[in-house]
Amino acid sequence: MKVLATYNIKGGVGKTASAVNLAYCAFKDNLRVLVWDLDPQGAATYYFRIKPKVKAGARTLVSKVRTINNVIKATNFDGLDLLPADFSNRNMDIYLNDEKKSDLRFRKIVSQIAPEYDLLIIDCPPSISLVSKNVFFASDCLLIPTIPTHLSFRAYDQLKRYINKHEEFKVTMLPYLYMVDRRKSIHKQFSEKFLNTFPEGLESQISYSSIVEKMGIYRAPVEIFDTYSGISTDFNKLWKEIYNRII
Ligand SMILES: Nc1ncnc2c1ncn2[C@@H]1O[C@H](COP(=O)(O)OP(=O)(O)OP(=O)(O)O)[C@@H](O)[C@H]1O
Ligand SMILES: [Mg+2]
Repeated sequence: MKVLATYNIKGGVGKTASAVNLAYCAFKDNLRVLVWDLDPQGAATYYFRIKPKVKAGARTLVSKVRTINNVIKATNFDGLDLLPADFSNRNMDIYLNDEKKSDLRFRKIVSQIAPEYDLLIIDCPPSISLVSKNVFFASDCLLIPTIPTHLSFRAYDQLKRYINKHEEFKVTMLPYLYMVDRRKSIHKQFSEKFLNTFPEGLESQISYSSIVEKMGIYRAPVEIFDTYSGISTDFNKLWKEIYNRII
């Protein structure tokens, strides 16, 4: 099982939209996919039409690692499952801190379900904390949506420095441009210098598109309600590139 995490220190940059749409692309490729919604806001859970509730909550999930086997839900897509968000995820740092080897806890949880799935996508909340450290140890790659602006590039650079400083993290960073609006000169300028600045970046980009907002209305990946839009094509291309990098 490969483990990807949609991660960014910044909020509102496309982590959840990426997690849900890329999971759907992987499902179409006949991979057995699990999405873990780590964010107490539960947006990915909402998009998959599942109740944001984990029986016994985040503390039990963290302290008794086998709990994961009993809290996974099926979605409307046969072969694409969800570990839903729970509001108690907001205290995940505290629960992790109470455990021995507190930064390797997610790795242990994830290993319980590894034979069941080809791909796990963890949708992370925006922060850098003990939860993030657990994600860095448990994941093969971080998928990092990056808006083409000065502050987003700076946030990615900070993350890159932090991860590179810690040799114990073996995780590969895969930043990609997100919400690109070529009518904005600043977006054009930063898009053009993205791969020179960050050669590890992906070539595929996700455009700005108001269709993505409609995921909240239809509660589904974009391709379900808007098959032929450019934005579905963007996510499919991004998925192909990620697939080629990770397999
Ligand atoms: N490509 C896109 N074009 C336009 N709007 C988008 C795009 N992708 C996502 N959005 C919208 O931007 C907002 C933030 O997206 P999303 O929830 O995916 O970000 P996030 O990084 O997961 O946020 P958070 O940090 O709160 O978890 C949402 O309202 C979403 O509908
Ligand atoms: Mg999110």
